[in-house]
Amino acid sequence: MDLNGLPTYGDDRGAHPPLLYPAYRSTQLRAPLRPPVLLPQRLTEVTGPLLGEERVTAADADLTTRSGGEPVGQRITLQGQVCDSDGRAVPHTLVEIWQANAAGRYAHERDTWPAPLDPHFAGVGRAMTGADGRYRFTTVRPGAYPWANHHNAWRPAHIHFSLFGRAFTQRLVTQMYFPDDPLHAFDPIFSSVPEPSRGRLVSRFSMDDTQPAWALAYHWDIVLRGQGSTPFDEPHEEDT
Ligand SMILES: [Fe+2]
Repeated sequence: MDLNGLPTYGDDRGAHPPLLYPAYRSTQLRAPLRPPVLLPQRLTEVTGPLLGEERVTAADADLTTRSGGEPVGQRITLQGQVCDSDGRAVPHTLVEIWQANAAGRYAHERDTWPAPLDPHFAGVGRAMTGADGRYRFTTVRPGAYPWANHHNAWRPAHIHFSLFGRAFTQRLVTQMYFPDDPLHAFDPIFSSVPEPSRGRLVSRFSMDDTQPAWALAYHWDIVLRGQGSTPFDEPHEEDT
């Protein structure tokens, strides 16, 4: 807290990818040419507007039941805890995810590569963290997909995450990956994250949380700020 009782944040430089990473081609076009200007958060920004929790239902966290039938693919549960830089759970915060289907295609008009769409998979979900900062989704494991960054470029399987901290101005966006994916080493988005923090983007398989004859399970914890922070990126057009 600062003298006005507003939150201050630890130094997390070095935990996140650089704004300009030439191998990730679109950063060459969008990276700012001048140093960023720090806009301090004042009481207005950190106290509102607030999301009405009642707008998010339990059904929103199950991506396999929302489109009139069961999607094709490997059913998984994905759960974890959202913490701040002091290790405190962040309760009642909105976690949103979006992802490709099991064949690696997004249900989006700009995704036109020749992989099948799944009429039973929209690929979007949301959940509020509980009092203990935990979230949980049911979905299918996404497939890899090609993109135009360079010749024969493929994105590793991943799920996009958006998190709101304690206010809308604290929105953070990142991607979660799966363990043992051979495409990690070839992906400039994954590689743009500094080495010490790269592993924080990879979920963990949890045999204990698998459900017999139903679903595999992954864990992924998220740290919002500080040196232990989960690396965050910005939403961008080339990778919807
Ligand atoms: Fe993506």
